Amino acid sequence: MQFGYEMIELKNIFKWYQVGGSRSFVLKDVSLNIQEGEFISIMGPSGSGKSTLLHIIGLLDEPDEGDYLFQGNEVLKLKEKQRSALYKKHIGFVFQAYHLIDELTVYENIETPLIYQDLKSSERKAIVADLLDRFGIVGKKDLFPVQLSGGQQQLVGIARALAAKPTLLLADEPTGNLNSKQGQEIMETFLRLNKEDGVTIIQVTHSEKNAAYGNRIINLLDGQISEV
Ligand SMILES: Nc1ncnc2c1ncn2[C@@H]1O[C@H](COP(=O)(O)OP(=O)(O)OP(=O)(O)O)[C@@H](O)[C@H]1O
Ligand SMILES: [Mg+2]
Repeated sequence: MQFGYEMIELKNIFKWYQVGGSRSFVLKDVSLNIQEGEFISIMGPSGSGKSTLLHIIGLLDEPDEGDYLFQGNEVLKLKEKQRSALYKKHIGFVFQAYHLIDELTVYENIETPLIYQDLKSSERKAIVADLLDRFGIVGKKDLFPVQLSGGQQQLVGIARALAAKPTLLLADEPTGNLNSKQGQEIMETFLRLNKEDGVTIIQVTHSEKNAAYGNRIINLLDGQISEV
């Protein structure tokens, strides 16, 4: 398969936590290159470091050691403000625990990433309306996250991640709380985004079936990569 330029270059990434007097390693010497246009599935047992790796790739967490080039930028050397600008411009993140804003309605949650964009209010409304429709949650638009089921919150989290048309979509078990039909619909949505719009996707999944939607599977075991 033919892909674009090197979008992500992780070199010898280590992440640890100080537990008691010693270091507890979460990522151990992870090196990984991902090209624009890839659709990657990360798999591995609970606690193997999948979410940690995805947060580092998504500029939401920093390693304790190693280098990270995102679109050629040495992101670990950037100031917080520049890093956050890169995030807002390029990255959509579907969090494992949704991370919706409790005080905002479904509509407002999905609209959040668009606030930073130079869009007319009518354009914002059209984008949110389209996403509500695509994910079958039009009837929920004025409800707050606490008034939704887990699966519905997950759909809102996915809609929010797509709102600003990211070039890189990072999804941490995006279908974990959906039924199998909904899960399949989300995987087909991701596949279309990848194939038709060229969105680079990295998903974490426990499902072999969902992992197979990607072009490459990366296995994490005890914080180390073994590619298949
Ligand atoms: N603040 C912290 N202090 C100590 N250890 C931590 C901290 N945060 C995360 N860890 C550890 O990092 C390891 C990796 O966590 P991570 O969330 O990346 O795993 P995961 O592969 O996503 O697991 P899951 O499949 O259950 O979501 C875990 O063993 C966890 O206990
Ligand atoms: Mg996780």
